Amino acid sequence: MRRIRFQPWDTAEPFVIDEVPVPVPGPGQLLVHTEVVGVGIGLVRMLHGRTAPEAGPGGEMVGRVAALGVGVAGFEVGDRVGGVVFEDVYARSVLAAPALVTRVPPEVTAPDALALVRGGLVALGALRAGRFERGESVLVTAAASGSGHLAVQLARALGAGRVVAAVGSPEKAGFVRGCGADEVVTYGQESWGDPVGVVLDGVGGALVQRGVDALAPHGRLVAFSAGGGAVDAGSLLGDLKSVTGFSVGRISRDRPEQIARLRAELWDLHAAGRLHPAHTALPLDRIAEAVELVEARGNLGRVLLRTG
Ligand SMILES: NC(=O)c1ccc[n+]([C@@H]2O[C@H](COP(=O)([O-])OP(=O)(O)OC[C@H]3O[C@@H](n4cnc5c(N)ncnc54)[C@H](OP(=O)(O)O)[C@@H]3O)[C@@H](O)[C@H]2O)c1
Repeated sequence: MRRIRFQPWDTAEPFVIDEVPVPVPGPGQLLVHTEVVGVGIGLVRMLHGRTAPEAGPGGEMVGRVAALGVGVAGFEVGDRVGGVVFEDVYARSVLAAPALVTRVPPEVTAPDALALVRGGLVALGALRAGRFERGESVLVTAAASGSGHLAVQLARALGAGRVVAAVGSPEKAGFVRGCGADEVVTYGQESWGDPVGVVLDGVGGALVQRGVDALAPHGRLVAFSAGGGAVDAGSLLGDLKSVTGFSVGRISRDRPEQIARLRAELWDLHAAGRLHPAHTALPLDRIAEAVELVEARGNLGRVLLRTG
């Protein structure tokens, strides 16, 4: 089968496609023949931090169960599944932990499912972590990203009074308005408009404090980016603002039933025509282009690779 080998970032060919044996699922593992795998800022960050070849990175995938390891219950060969795999996801066949994948409804396309199993989960989980209530205003940073554009769509679908999309460049305005944003702001803009009830931050760094400053009294900022950032505690107290973290990985470990509820809600909203994931699909051997697109901050929605 084909699998991408990652070489040090500064080598001429950082991505090499190897032919390797199909892995054999160990106890408690699923073998999945992938259809699509995701490319995002997580992979870009990992590649930049990497100095030597190592196990291939993980990420989200959608495919069909091809074999079950000893002790796996709840799945059958042929089931269409999607979820996150921690390593060597850029391949035709991957080993997955049953707890981190879910069955994909048959009517959902592989690219839509791929966009929802991680980006959708992050977006809906973050909205819930921010205790969002119908009628409140919501500001989303990295609003054109794989998770951000779904956060904009979800805020709209769940009855936000006003949705503000914050993006890196004004060229993304049309796209995020199409997702349901009422207003579009860029990070460099001096004012982000009227204060909002909830900020979902998928960028980190200086934008965390910027997001806190954009909150109305009693507002909540949900930090779900791996981009770090710091907050001046003094900026929280007078207006009773709060900042909370959100991680799909942590919730999957601590509260799997919550993940199952979020996933069910996402499939329902998708079936009702309330969610329209956007994606750019490329074949596996064009991974360099896919990475470049995200690195240049040019992606609109989820970038994915077709492995078949
Ligand atoms: N907490 C969790 O469980 C969890 C899970 C998955 C992902 N995440 C986080 O969610 C955020 C969005 O991830 P994603 O996979 O949805 O994004 P993505 O589809 O890969 O989109 C990346 C976008 O992020 C923005 N961005 C901000 N800083 C960037 C940088 N230094 N380099 C490249 N792009 C940058 C860019 O848009 P603009 O230029 O418009 O800002 C870019 O287009 C990330 O911060 C990621 O760490 C969290």
